[in-house]
Amino acid sequence: MALEQSALIPAHVGIIMDGNGRWATQRGLPRSEGHRQGLETAKKIVLAASRVGIRYLSLYAFSTENWKRTSDEVGFLMGLIKHHLRSELDFYKRNGIRIVHSGDPTGLPQDIVRDIRDVETATAHFDGLVLNMAINYGGRDEIVRAVRRIAQGPNPGALDAAAIAAALDRPDIPDPDLIIRTGGEYRLSNFLLWESAYSELFFSDALWPDFSSLDLEGAIADFSRRERRFGGHNE
Ligand code: FPP
Repeated sequence: MALEQSALIPAHVGIIMDGNGRWATQRGLPRSEGHRQGLETAKKIVLAASRVGIRYLSLYAFSTENWKRTSDEVGFLMGLIKHHLRSELDFYKRNGIRIVHSGDPTGLPQDIVRDIRDVETATAHFDGLVLNMAINYGGRDEIVRAVRRIAQGPNPGALDAAAIAAALDRPDIPDPDLIIRTGGEYRLSNFLLWESAYSELFFSDALWPDFSSLDLEGAIADFSRRERRFGGHNE
């Protein structure tokens, strides 16, 4: 089903890309194959998001909790992300996509931080889709870091919601209108906790490697039918 012309396109979509491991296990493959395939899906969805007119796409690539996985899996994911940042710069340039990062750089290997900064700089002037890669990202961690920034800044007493929002990782990006989670689980898992206060949530049973641009369009069509009140009323 193609998106109707009149569909309301969310400006900012966040995606929790869950189900890579199960996708691989179901096929008798190592979990790493699921992540590899998941990355291919991520590229397809980035293009689809750009095509339908989404302005900002946040992808939860590695959480502050993902360090608890085996060192093999963590090593594989870091390698995959690093290789992706280096080898796909052309892909982002060709498609006019701007890359930004959310998460704590201090917990990441220095070479990955450098690669992230390099792609951020190389794509900074693009005015197409903004792809926010959440790497070593946790919503609680982001809020703690924001509060610390304020406490250590010139105006530590000015601690209100606006000040916290302005001290988060991406104050330049509006709050997500829609958060999609694949893989059949119904939770946020520490993703964009502050920013998701009024996000619409969409859960898909598809395992992330199987998630298609049609699934994305289905989620947007569903979003389009929601009535958003932001705590107020429409009478
Ligand atoms: C969750 O599936 C997925 C992850 C923890 C990693 C997601 C990372 C990628 C798709 C690659 C990196 C992407 C970019 C854009 C650089 P899971 O392993 O928890 O699956 P399971 O619940 O089936 O075990």
